Amino acid sequence: MTSLQENKIKNQNSFNQEDWSSAYQNVEKELVNEELKITSGKVIKNLNGTLLRNGPGILKRDKQWVHHPFDGDGMVTAINFKEGIAKITNKFVRTKGYLEEEKQNKFIYRGVFGTQKRGGLLNNFLDLKFKNIANTHIVKLGDQLLALWEAAGPHALDPKSLETIGLSTLNGVLKENEAFSAHPKLDLNSQASSELLVTFGVQTGPKSTIRLMEFSNSGSNSGELLFDRKDSFDGFSFLHDFAITSNWAIFLQNAIDFNPIPFLMGKKGAAQCLKSNPNKTAKFILIPRESGLFKGQSPLIIDAPKGFVFHHVNAYEKDDNIILDSIFYDDFPSVGPDENFRKIDFENYPDGKLKRSIINIKERSSHITTISSQCCEFATVNPKLIGLEATFTWMASTEQKSGNGPLQAIKKINLNTNEEYYWSAFPRGFVSEPIMVPKENSSIEDEGFLLIIVWNGKRRGSDLVILDSKDMKELAVYELPLNIPHGLHGSWIRD
Ligand code: CO
Repeated sequence: MTSLQENKIKNQNSFNQEDWSSAYQNVEKELVNEELKITSGKVIKNLNGTLLRNGPGILKRDKQWVHHPFDGDGMVTAINFKEGIAKITNKFVRTKGYLEEEKQNKFIYRGVFGTQKRGGLLNNFLDLKFKNIANTHIVKLGDQLLALWEAAGPHALDPKSLETIGLSTLNGVLKENEAFSAHPKLDLNSQASSELLVTFGVQTGPKSTIRLMEFSNSGSNSGELLFDRKDSFDGFSFLHDFAITSNWAIFLQNAIDFNPIPFLMGKKGAAQCLKSNPNKTAKFILIPRESGLFKGQSPLIIDAPKGFVFHHVNAYEKDDNIILDSIFYDDFPSVGPDENFRKIDFENYPDGKLKRSIINIKERSSHITTISSQCCEFATVNPKLIGLEATFTWMASTEQKSGNGPLQAIKKINLNTNEEYYWSAFPRGFVSEPIMVPKENSSIEDEGFLLIIVWNGKRRGSDLVILDSKDMKELAVYELPLNIPHGLHGSWIRD
């Protein structure tokens, strides 16, 4: 039997597709400060702050499903913890497209990931209008929350009520609807400010331009843009995420082509027109940070290993090297025009493996090693160590050791020893991105909590699970009065 067949059999025996796909349903309500009841474990008194999550909240309008959940309108959930009391609030981001489609109760925009308007080819032909769906991440900048979607500008939200304030230019920093990445990095170790939010926007075409921006995120100038630079490169770029060190912003330009014809013809969504090009070499683009030692210098461009990356975990500098941990796929995973995302066969999609790139700045070379080949996504380190060397990383992983599958476990890896530790929601639970909250006043790297929204396939509802990030033991479970579809990214805000 080939390993592919073995995996298929293992998968069929291991999880129920409907347990997993049942999470994909429209969010039907918006809650305001509803107190949560703990279902198992103990109340945690020394956890004070707010967990924020973003992800698709509308999957279907008038019996038409989105083609890919990434096309679903953003719905933000906030769970506030104060001395053992947990309260939940959730709101849709009132984007222009959400309000229009809500009124007409149908999709009137095409989605980047392949959702088409009704009316077939003719009605989609040469329709390049996008809906900014604000569904990918939610972060705090200054005194506002920003709901992010990388192809256009951020939506500002009120941090208490989650009411949408509107599409923001960040006090004139951005042009109207200028691209603003959904993966800002919070730098707590910069010389320039006690807290910097470092992020970027990409304009792509035959040439691509990266705008790197560093905002103060603490003190009296919180929210103010402190550093700003633009660099242009040859070639099309698909840059979802990046990593930072004290002196560098690190991008991986995947070896990918964009063929816009099927998109213009109305046959495919823009993201379905991306394709790996085996004749191209991926490149690391290292841009000197304006808050760092090499400000003003030109970027370095260095050949990168084969594979496709959405997400990086962390990076740090060591001698002449930049060490970068990322989740690598063999190829770009796309849901084709004839596939149904709720019925996908995981085995037909490439799996994500945790790999380490060692980039030598002096020799302008790189090589790669595999840290773990078990399929994983959404990896993180202690937020205090972003840009610095971390010993521990936490991530969502599959239950099985090889091949692709749904994310059902949370894994901790000691990057020095490669030891692995697990908590599992298998067989009927499905995890999302773990948020690591360091224990207050602790200098021990792995002391703290992991907050995870878990889809409970048995009761067909969402749970909040809190783990001890050191020993991976389950501390508390809250059954949420809200069904949250499998989501994207989130953050933690201290009180
Ligand atoms: Co992402």
